[in-house]
Amino acid sequence: MKIKVGVLFGGRSVEHEISIISAVQAMAAFDKEKYDVVPIYISKDDKFYTGEILKNIEEYRDIPNIIKKSQRVILQNDEGKVKLYLHPMKLFKKEVDYIDVAFPVVHGTNVEDGCLAGFLHMLDIPYCECDVLSSAVGMDKFAQKAILKEYGIPVLPAKCFDMKKYNKNQKTILEDIEKDIEYPMIVKPINLGSSVGIRKVKNREELEDAIDYGFEFSLRVLVEHAVEPLREINCSVLGDYEYAKPSECEEPINADEILSYQDKYLSGGKSGKDGKTGSKGMSSTKRKLPADIPQDTKEKIQEYAVDAFKALGCNGVVRIDFLLNDETKEIWFNEINTTPGSLSFYLWEATGVSFADLLDEVVNLALKRKREEDTVTYSFDTNVLAGIKLGGSKGKV
Ligand SMILES: Nc1ncnc2c1ncn2[C@@H]1O[C@H](COP(=O)(O)OP(=O)(O)O)[C@@H](O)[C@H]1O
Ligand SMILES: [Mg+2]
Repeated sequence: MKIKVGVLFGGRSVEHEISIISAVQAMAAFDKEKYDVVPIYISKDDKFYTGEILKNIEEYRDIPNIIKKSQRVILQNDEGKVKLYLHPMKLFKKEVDYIDVAFPVVHGTNVEDGCLAGFLHMLDIPYCECDVLSSAVGMDKFAQKAILKEYGIPVLPAKCFDMKKYNKNQKTILEDIEKDIEYPMIVKPINLGSSVGIRKVKNREELEDAIDYGFEFSLRVLVEHAVEPLREINCSVLGDYEYAKPSECEEPINADEILSYQDKYLSGGKSGKDGKTGSKGMSSTKRKLPADIPQDTKEKIQEYAVDAFKALGCNGVVRIDFLLNDETKEIWFNEINTTPGSLSFYLWEATGVSFADLLDEVVNLALKRKREEDTVTYSFDTNVLAGIKLGGSKGKV
C-alpha cells in the first residue's frame, strides 16, 4: 500500500508565497510509486484546504479562486488515523481523505516556528520536520546563538532587546550597543526570514532608523557587527540526533549588500507567460554551487553545520547559513532554516541525492522518531483523584 503523505503549506506568515512554491516543487517530486500526495493548503487566515487543484502552481495566481475550487477541511485523529473532514460537516460525506504522515513545507512565523509542529504532535501523527523545541529555537535568531555558543560554534556577539525596553531606555541601549559592537552593524527582527526588515548601518542615525524599522516587523530586534568583506556560504544537513550528513556548500550571489528577498527568490527566475515572475523560490537564487572555497574551509563549514544541527536537536532536512570574512577567513554561524526554501533539494542534487530520495529519507526519519516516541509512557496510573473532595481552598494546589 502506498503511504499517504499530507503536504502542509502556506500559513499566516510573510513567507506564505515562498512556501507555496517550495511545497508545489516537493509535491511534484515525491516518488509516486510509493506515495500518494495529499495537498493541505493553510490560508493566510489559518483555514485548511485540500484538493488536486492545489498541486498546480499556475492556479495560485488567483488565490481566492483556488480556495473556492478546493475543499475546506479540518484534521482530526480518529482512533489512530488522521482524517480530513469536510468543514462545515455534511450529513453524508464527512471524510474527504486521510493521511499517514504529515510533511510540512512552511516558512516563517506562526508555522515554521514550532506552531505547526505542535499541532501535528497533538494529532499524534509522524511529521517531517524539526520538533517543537528545535523549530522554535530555529526561528529565534538570538536563542539559537545562545545555545550554539555553549556548544563552541562560532557566533557573532549580539544585542537583543524588545520594543518596550528600547522605548524606555533608548539612550542607554544605544550606548551599550556602541560600546560592544563596531560599525557597520546589521539590525534584524528576531524571528523573520527572507531578509524582511533587515538593514545594514554605518552610524548612530542609521542605527536608530533601522531599529525603528525592525520593530515594524517584530517586537524584538537583534544588532550585531556586519561582516566585511562578506561571503555567504550555506550548507544543508539531513538526519536526526543519531546520524546527520552535510550537503555540498553553495554561495548565494547578492546584488546588494544584504542578500535580499529579490536576490533570493526573484533574480534567477524566468519570466512567466503573463510577464510576471516565474520564480522557483529558493532554487532560483543566483548561486555558485559548489561554492568556490578551499577544501578545508568547506570541511570546517560542513562540520559546524552538522554540530549545529545536533546541538539544536533537528530532524529531517535543514539549511544552515554561514558568514565568511573574506579577508580574515573567519567563519560565523549566521542562522538556521529548519524548513529551508525548496527544501534545499538543489544542494542535495549537487551531493548526488535526488529530490525523490531526499523526500523519502525525510519521511523515514519522521517515522523513526514517531516509533521511538511511542515507546515512551505518557500516562501514569494513579488513584490521586479517587475520592477527591474540594475543600475550602477551591481545589487550589
Ligand atoms: N552579521 C552580518 N554581517 C553581514 N551581513 C549580514 C549579517 N547578518 C545578516 N547579513 C545579511 O543579511 C541577510 C539576511 O540575514 P539573515 O540573518 O540571514 O536573515 P533572514 O532570516 O531574513 O535570511 C544575509 O543573507 C546577509 O546578506
Ligand atoms: Mg538568511
